[in-house]
Amino acid sequence: MESCSPICRHYVLFRKLGQFATSTRRRRIGRVLHRPLLFQFQKWHHVSHSVANKTLRSYIENYTDRHFSDMSKSVQLANPHLETMSSDFLYHLNFNVENSKEPTEIKKKFADVKVICCGGTISRMRELALYLRKVLDDPETGEPVDLCSGGHRYAMFKVGPVLSVSHGVGSSTFSVVLHELLKLVKYAGCQDPVFLRIGTCGGVGVPPGTVVVTKNAFNGYLRNEHEIAILGKRVVRPAQFPESVIKDVLAYGSSADDGFQTISGNTMGTDCFYEGQGRLDGAICEYTEADKMEFLKKCFDLGIVNIEMEASMFASVTQKLGVKAGDVCVTIVNRLNGDQVEITMEQKHEYEQRPFLVVGRYIKKLLQKC
Ligand code: URA
Repeated sequence: MESCSPICRHYVLFRKLGQFATSTRRRRIGRVLHRPLLFQFQKWHHVSHSVANKTLRSYIENYTDRHFSDMSKSVQLANPHLETMSSDFLYHLNFNVENSKEPTEIKKKFADVKVICCGGTISRMRELALYLRKVLDDPETGEPVDLCSGGHRYAMFKVGPVLSVSHGVGSSTFSVVLHELLKLVKYAGCQDPVFLRIGTCGGVGVPPGTVVVTKNAFNGYLRNEHEIAILGKRVVRPAQFPESVIKDVLAYGSSADDGFQTISGNTMGTDCFYEGQGRLDGAICEYTEADKMEFLKKCFDLGIVNIEMEASMFASVTQKLGVKAGDVCVTIVNRLNGDQVEITMEQKHEYEQRPFLVVGRYIKKLLQKC
């Protein structure tokens, strides 16, 4: 992995000095050094640590969020600590990157990856893999192989340059696999990868079966941002998807004779399916139907056309790193008419094919352009 900037390289050097100073070697050296020399050594240790910490802090403070227009071809992570590690175990994916400076094995397996599709369930992502084989004329015919079955958490299928990965329900499970996937594409040296989420959602004033491509992602506080507790502090980050991806998914993914609408609009990503989405049918509810309708009206007025549980985290993490991403979901209920998902399993299955169709066409076009 190449260092991301000169300041980062200096940080790495100082970290190494700091690490040496805290190692058992220091203690051994300490025993043989006479006291005045040991004192100098400790002073040097302290200075190297404080310089390292100051350098890291200034690196972090000078680090501004990357704009989509500045997107570089290769992924740049925003973690200088990774530069000091010689190996990296992507625990939930069950991939051990033994030599993260020269990750030959990972490069061999994943350097060609251009698109990473993520979605809730293993069965849906396996189905997407089978669907993409047809779209991409992949000659493979056997059962798709789950590349991270050993991790017993998520599933990953590879179809040519596309990964199809399950992420579970909600931001917390998705963020775990997203961090590891971002590191994976970095180690593999993937060029300009696009992350896509496909899923189901509740509609706000749109009929069930509508495909929504997210523009701005709102959190459950109706703010166009994502907030997360880091080191006991509230950290708030912007949550937008790049216009170029939205435009291309709409242009290449949808067709007037699909028999359903594909639209773009804002999405609210909540941390709870029931109370967080203003439902009246959870195990706990401390508001009235009128309160709920007022909340949904506020959503509607903000241009929010669908509600799911991942958009704000997904947008904020990918935006922070300047990585291209898009969220493409099909509505399975119109929340202005009720809370319960009443469509049949067959209907749900049919609706779930719609994001496949849209994303499949977009990926095909994207790969032709590469
Ligand atoms: N997923 C959600 O998060 N909400 C819905 O209403 C439907 C699917």
